[in-house]
Amino acid sequence: MNKLRIGIVGTGYTIGIAKAHIQAYQGLPEAEITAFYDVIPGRAEQFIKDNNISGGKICVSMEELLAAVDAISICVPNNQHFPAAKAAVDAGKHFLCEKPLSVSWVEAKKFVDYVRGRRNKVIAMVGFNYRDIPAVRWMKKIIDEGKIGRVYSCVQQLGGPRIADPVKVKREWRMDKEQSGAGALPDFGSHMLDLADYLLSGENGKICRVQSFKNTFITQRPAVDGSGMLPVTNDDAAVFNAVTEKGSLCSFYACRIGIPFQTLQITGEGGMLLFNAQGPKKPGETQRLGIQLKEKGGGYTGPMAWEEVPPEFSGREGHRGIAMDFINAIRNGGDCGDREIERGLYIQQLLEKVNEAAERGEIVNL
Ligand SMILES: NC(=O)c1ccc[n+]([C@@H]2O[C@H](COP(=O)([O-])OP(=O)(O)OC[C@H]3O[C@@H](n4cnc5c(N)ncnc54)[C@H](O)[C@@H]3O)[C@@H](O)[C@H]2O)c1
Repeated sequence: MNKLRIGIVGTGYTIGIAKAHIQAYQGLPEAEITAFYDVIPGRAEQFIKDNNISGGKICVSMEELLAAVDAISICVPNNQHFPAAKAAVDAGKHFLCEKPLSVSWVEAKKFVDYVRGRRNKVIAMVGFNYRDIPAVRWMKKIIDEGKIGRVYSCVQQLGGPRIADPVKVKREWRMDKEQSGAGALPDFGSHMLDLADYLLSGENGKICRVQSFKNTFITQRPAVDGSGMLPVTNDDAAVFNAVTEKGSLCSFYACRIGIPFQTLQITGEGGMLLFNAQGPKKPGETQRLGIQLKEKGGGYTGPMAWEEVPPEFSGREGHRGIAMDFINAIRNGGDCGDREIERGLYIQQLLEKVNEAAERGEIVNL
């Protein structure tokens, strides 16, 4: 069987998430990366050189790229997701789009309506890849088996320190509301809300109320072209809380200027689960999950144990799982693991309500 021809749109300049997509496809025998396109001339060439990538055509337009592929990964700034997806669906090509789906709920709705309204029926996925973290997959199994029972709380933090330097880190597209949306809130909140809903929503209900605060700590940054200082127009950090229909309490911290590592903690009537991306982990060890279970009607009798995540939960790390689902959905009509663009729209709705809560200083109902 011929390999699926994949194109990469947006090869990368800041984080360069395209690298994770490329690595994932390169590990799949059914896929082959045949084309690259970046709107900035020379950037794709540089990217290929820096990353020792062999093969694949460097295209000078989206049209040229689309003619050379069966499917694309969209790795461009958030406000460019919809135009790239539109071009793909018009050309009858499948796409896997990075998160968040768009810069606002209105734009995301237009995006989904456009794609689903076209005659060309394509596989259209959004990149919520954090569900594939081995410890998260194990958490999901433990929760689904009923061991935690009613969930009391889900507490998460996500972000990083990469852009903490206000002088050396120039103003990136993600610091501009027009290109990125509300800031760290959608950037990291999209993953955290996806995880909270993924882990809890079955037995504990959907998120139904939110409250939030956000702030911009570095209000201007040097322009990339050296032309002076430019304003930062979205948030650097946001804290937000949510409650589910069944009363589970969720708390989130998203920050792009200083978070040491991701944490995800679930507590419930049957015990506690803790994933700490730093974790008590030695080189060469597999991921660990903190587990402290108890009788549902009783109290805790022992300490938290840091258990190695069993090998059955590995194999989908990074973008591998989502790339596997994408290829399988295209090839065999397999499902996308609830990561169709409609999922992106739902998460965008939650993000919009959280942002509204911060801007209005009020609790917002869904
Ligand atoms: N899943 C994750 O964990 C994760 C992590 C980082 C970033 N992302 C998402 O990935 C996307 C890209 O982020 P990044 O940090 O890799 O960006 P980046 O700045 O590294 O790269 C974006 C690239 O897109 C190019 N570009 C801009 N507009 C374009 C257009 N219209 N057509 C073609 N190329 C265009 C830019 O020149 C740049 O090379 C964003 O949506 C971001 O939210 C996801």
